[in-house]
Amino acid sequence: MNSRFIQNLYFEVLYLQPMIELVHVWKYFSRKPVLKNVNLKIYPGEFLGIAGANGSGKTVLLHLLAGLLKPSKGEIVFNNDCNKNFGFVFQENLLEDFFTVEDALRYCLKLAGFNAFQIRKSVNHALKLVGLYNRKKWLVKHLSKGLKQCLELARVIALNPDVFILDEPFTGLDVKRKEKLKHFFKRLKHVKTLIIASLEIQDLSMCDKLVLLHNGKILITGDLKVLMSKLPDRVLELPINSTKVLNALKIKHFVTGDKVLCFSKNYKSLLAKMKSFEYVKIRKPCLQDLFLYHARER
Ligand SMILES: Nc1ncnc2c1ncn2[C@@H]1O[C@H](COP(=O)(O)OP(=O)(O)OP(=O)(O)O)[C@@H](O)[C@H]1O
Ligand SMILES: [Mg+2]
Repeated sequence: MNSRFIQNLYFEVLYLQPMIELVHVWKYFSRKPVLKNVNLKIYPGEFLGIAGANGSGKTVLLHLLAGLLKPSKGEIVFNNDCNKNFGFVFQENLLEDFFTVEDALRYCLKLAGFNAFQIRKSVNHALKLVGLYNRKKWLVKHLSKGLKQCLELARVIALNPDVFILDEPFTGLDVKRKEKLKHFFKRLKHVKTLIIASLEIQDLSMCDKLVLLHNGKILITGDLKVLMSKLPDRVLELPINSTKVLNALKIKHFVTGDKVLCFSKNYKSLLAKMKSFEYVKIRKPCLQDLFLYHARER
């Protein structure tokens, strides 16, 4: 038996058993249901993306997964092998303003039981990765909002958990930092488990599996590539003033920002109906379209 075979076998056995399983989970706040009958399995080494509009329940779901909230109904099963070594990036910044950047991280790692050598090594590595090394002597309160977010990411990276739970981790980050961090997380595939919620669905492109939440319910879930392959093969983009004519022609469409989108399995026949339009852009569907397509009729 070669080592590749053994490695594959190891992954298959690991993947057979979920690390965390949500079984008919409901969460209520003051009798209002905010998560409704959520069933979900998360496997070790998996990258799971959670998408959904504001208030759809992403943060509540992450808090349940991390054990920070208890379900009102249903059950969350943590596998025996899951030692709950979670690193959570919260939507709000946690680190104390009166610490320096470096001390804020040192403090967290000390609380987590790291020794002096590990602290120095991990803190320096994490600060370099998020581009805060030159500002390590700054007070946290003097950092901009985006840099505070970088510090939150540095905290979790320095802690090096088995499971990363990231709630809107890249909000406010410039493109360069964001790409660098995405690249860092991508390299952890199959080594760490990552659960990420984001309004920016493009940030979920590194995930294997996607959950789309809508008003506390799972609208769709599945393998990202499979979900994408099931979308109509073309998207037609029209100017915002096309809606009247589209309504008259009874063509299903979706208004987003300053554009109107039509999804079509047979775009040539749809295009033929649109002769009167001066501008129609035809493109392949992107990840953003996945959510629009499934949420549009709800
Ligand atoms: N502690 C709480 N008490 C009462 N209601 C709450 C509490 N936490 C969340 N909610 C409600 O639960 C629903 C889901 O909230 P949640 O924060 O999970 O949404 P979200 O999808 O993360 O939104 P966003 O994209 O804005 O971060 C919302 O209606 C919210 O008002
Ligand atoms: Mg949230």
